[in-house]
Amino acid sequence: MIYLDNSATSYPKPTEVYDFMDHFYRTHGVNPGRSGFDAAIETGELVSDTRKMLTQLFNGGGDPNRLTFSYNATDSLNIILQGLAYANPGAHVITTMLEHNSVLRPLYVMEQRGLITVTYLPFDERGYVNPDDFRKAIRPNTKFAVCTHCSNVIGTIQPLADLGRICHEHGIIFVVDGSQGAGAVDLDMQAQNIDVYCFTGHKCLMGPTGIGGSYVREGIEIGQTRFGGTGVRSAVPGHLEEYPYRLEAGTINLLGIAGLNAGVKWITKEGIMNIHHREMALWEKLRDGIRDIKGVKIYCATSTENQNPVLSFNINGWEAGDVGTMLDVDYDIACRTGLQCAPKVHVGIGTIDIHGTVRLSIGAFTTEEDVNTAIEAVRDIAAMKN
Ligand SMILES: Cc1ncc(COP(=O)(O)O)c(C=O)c1O
Repeated sequence: MIYLDNSATSYPKPTEVYDFMDHFYRTHGVNPGRSGFDAAIETGELVSDTRKMLTQLFNGGGDPNRLTFSYNATDSLNIILQGLAYANPGAHVITTMLEHNSVLRPLYVMEQRGLITVTYLPFDERGYVNPDDFRKAIRPNTKFAVCTHCSNVIGTIQPLADLGRICHEHGIIFVVDGSQGAGAVDLDMQAQNIDVYCFTGHKCLMGPTGIGGSYVREGIEIGQTRFGGTGVRSAVPGHLEEYPYRLEAGTINLLGIAGLNAGVKWITKEGIMNIHHREMALWEKLRDGIRDIKGVKIYCATSTENQNPVLSFNINGWEAGDVGTMLDVDYDIACRTGLQCAPKVHVGIGTIDIHGTVRLSIGAFTTEEDVNTAIEAVRDIAAMKN
């Protein structure tokens, strides 16, 4: 299989990730933070080390305990967005049309329930949100804003530092959905004025599915929406308010954390921006190889700057879904078609009524040969109708 669906999840993972998960779970598969025997303490140390590693990777700049784990970005975005809404009832929230349903749906449901009101900012023809639009959308009761680090449909990396600065000038909490950004490009929460960064472990951080989390900077209040066991101070009737317990309840995903730990070590060793530049060279080849094919329309993808290696396109005369099926059946190329869980992006690029796009996404293990095969496959499919 030629795997060009890395935006959905990175595959394969580095060998080190598979090996460490297997070894760690066999030797340390016990509940961390609950007991005092050696294996439990060592397991707890792996969890703490991973909190520290991610805090450093994101430059959260404070207590590593504010790096909390969850199942994935969707889970953390739910915890954070609902927690902020409960802490700020009646808030106006700014978000963008680039968002994934993991942001759109929690906001929609909370708006339907009368908890918040939401403004959706458009993006320009190149695929970027304009900070001036953002500034104009601010109201006296705007309490928080949420923006994706990078679009999962068109790959554009958003101007987070500018958006964050505007937020801070107006006392607005700035939340970033880092699903497509964490481990994909360098990040500096402090320099980029980000208050809360939500991430998923199974994409560019190279961990397995089922692990994600968030980093919440000091001074940001997140109302609690989860309650349960923490392994400490069991006699206290309410849920603990201090981090990491504040946002974590129940046994955490130890195996996921072990894989994430190995994944972050691998991307750090390789160099995040080295991987990124390697992927972007392949992306440029792919884009240039298919953009002049008769009948092909590529969306955005105007520059290799502020761009991740994701390409969305359509072929005149074909439904995106049918192109995906042909790529799979005839060429053994795995990709994603349709709306990619981000319907408002498709409103913006004009593909909502034609059932979305074909999306090819390059990863750390994509080769030049994979890209050449994909270009020839698109050429063949386009030639049938153009
Ligand atoms: C931009 C964006 N946000 C959120 C998510 C949700 O990630 P997860 O399914 O790991 O929760 C995705 C996954 O594709 C995404 O691309």
